[in-house]
Amino acid sequence: MSISLETIVSLAKRRGFVFQSSEIYGGLNGCWDYGPLGVELLNNIKREWWQAMTFREDIEGIDAAILMHPKVWEASGHVANFTDPMVDCKECKARFRADQLEDAMCGNPAYKGRKAIKCMEEGKFTEPRQFNLMFKTFIGPVEDEAAIVYLRPETAQGIFVNFLNVLNSSRQKIPFGIAQIGKAFRNEINTKNFLFRTREFEQMEMQYFVRPGEDMKWFEYWKEERMNWFVNLGLKKEKLRFSPHPEDKLAHYAKAAVDIEYEFPFGWGEIEGIHNRTNFDLTQHSNYSGKVLDYFDDETKEKYIPFIIETSAGASRSFMTFLIDAYFEEEVRGEKRVVLKLHQKLAPIKVGIFPLVNRDGMPEIAQNITKDLRKDFRVFYDDKGAVGRRYRRQDEVGTPYCVTVDSQTLQDQTVTIRERDSMEQIRIDMNKIREFLKDKLD
Ligand code: GAP
Repeated sequence: MSISLETIVSLAKRRGFVFQSSEIYGGLNGCWDYGPLGVELLNNIKREWWQAMTFREDIEGIDAAILMHPKVWEASGHVANFTDPMVDCKECKARFRADQLEDAMCGNPAYKGRKAIKCMEEGKFTEPRQFNLMFKTFIGPVEDEAAIVYLRPETAQGIFVNFLNVLNSSRQKIPFGIAQIGKAFRNEINTKNFLFRTREFEQMEMQYFVRPGEDMKWFEYWKEERMNWFVNLGLKKEKLRFSPHPEDKLAHYAKAAVDIEYEFPFGWGEIEGIHNRTNFDLTQHSNYSGKVLDYFDDETKEKYIPFIIETSAGASRSFMTFLIDAYFEEEVRGEKRVVLKLHQKLAPIKVGIFPLVNRDGMPEIAQNITKDLRKDFRVFYDDKGAVGRRYRRQDEVGTPYCVTVDSQTLQDQTVTIRERDSMEQIRIDMNKIREFLKDKLD
């Protein structure tokens, strides 16, 4: 089934997953707000990632500040090199990334539907110039050169500069990793494709510090681990692929790099990068800060600057990927059913509770079940409209189970539990609902 991005954007807004930032003021380009269901889905994704990373012996977590010492960005190369080539159309004044003109459309309403590349061929564009993607601001009350700081364009640098702090406080030994989830900001020239390329987004990054010489072994290890994470959370295998960076296209610090790509409605796109960053980052920070960032191996008595294997995923981009991948339209008894077949661990609501009718004591029983289950699960109580419609409403947001209290409940204290994907229903004792859900959802 092929779906359009518009379908997903529309569902996301209608059901409270994602809203345009500052919508009542006409929106702010490249920024999005997560609504009541969106924040649950996003938190569930981040929790799964955090557990996969830090519920193991060899990885510690941190949460570094978004604002960092400006020298960090000189050392990392971002001040000099974190740029995209930009061109302006002399006629309509639209701005484009010079290296992405194939996909771009002309901004002039007079040439509706025209490709921007055509305008370039006709000489309407300025010469490309480099545009730095970091957002600048000032620290303290004086707005001068000395007070310039940047909103971090990646979370990774907060990890590199804390390497020694974490090493010394956690007593880890190499190989070990540091994981972090947090906001990153890039002043992208053109934002596009909903959450795919935005100006404010969240990253889930892990830097794994290894002995030089063992780096490629760990690169292969993390490549597989990260692909399995997406597959185990339900993404369709055939929609995923590895895309290695050719040697001549590697970043200057990288020895090897591979992207995990997903086939979006607009084509294949990167959702995570796995990079062998060599000892570039620690060497640079050591040179710029004057602090020794070596590792001393007690057993072999060797001293070295560790190599780093980085896994760098976008939380926001993963969010969009899980949403798109889970979206299905099916025909059920002559009617269209929209269902999000989200992995149960990611589903924003775990169970819907319905009284079949609003009388005969059914709402009271259903409300008691709701109150009781809320101690353990995110539950949604719904007594509005036909029960078939209530199922559909939960299907559309990916709720894996729905419990209905009906007239039989009044006689034998059993309820029906309906499973989202198969739509099969079983009857169970209402005192066993929690046990059933725990068993299924774990
Ligand atoms: N520390 C390495 C790094 O930041 P990257 O390939 O620039 O590498 C890693 O970014 C991930 O962050 C991407 O795979 C993507 O998921 C996410 N990402 C990057 N730029 C983004 C943007 N403008 N909007 C949304 N997500 C973005």
